[in-house]
Amino acid sequence: MKKIQIINGPNLNLLGKREPSVYGNASFESYLEELCKRYPQCEIHYYQSNVEGEMINKIHEVGFEFDGIVLNAGAYTHTSIALHDAIKAIETPVVEVHISNVHTREPFRHVSMISAACKGVILGFGMESYRLALESFVCTDK
Ligand code: DQA
Repeated sequence: MKKIQIINGPNLNLLGKREPSVYGNASFESYLEELCKRYPQCEIHYYQSNVEGEMINKIHEVGFEFDGIVLNAGAYTHTSIALHDAIKAIETPVVEVHISNVHTREPFRHVSMISAACKGVILGFGMESYRLALESFVCTDK
């Protein structure tokens, strides 16, 4: 059974309420329920924090034990060298995820501080971006 940690960063606790035209109407909790049903072969853990250091602590906690991390770092994507370093410091591969296609949005969202430290990046597929990232861990060995 593969152990996958999903980590959502700042403001993603408001999915379903926050800018629905960009992020959709579903809460992450309802989407997570669907994901767990669809991937019974995975043990899916979920963590959300609005605090950069808490996200780093979670990455350290699971990063030598889990098979994969699906990370939507929210706006910290565009600013956080500390998250980049945390991803580099661990053994577990990390897939960066975004709900929106950040490259069609404001220029400050076109830069990611974390992509270079990640195994891959999936963006622009709405909530399905999370499933595609999960699928990448299911269909590959490492
Ligand atoms: C986001 C894109 C970021 O630019 C933004 O700050 C978010 C959400 C996305 O999932 O599309 O909070 O990561």
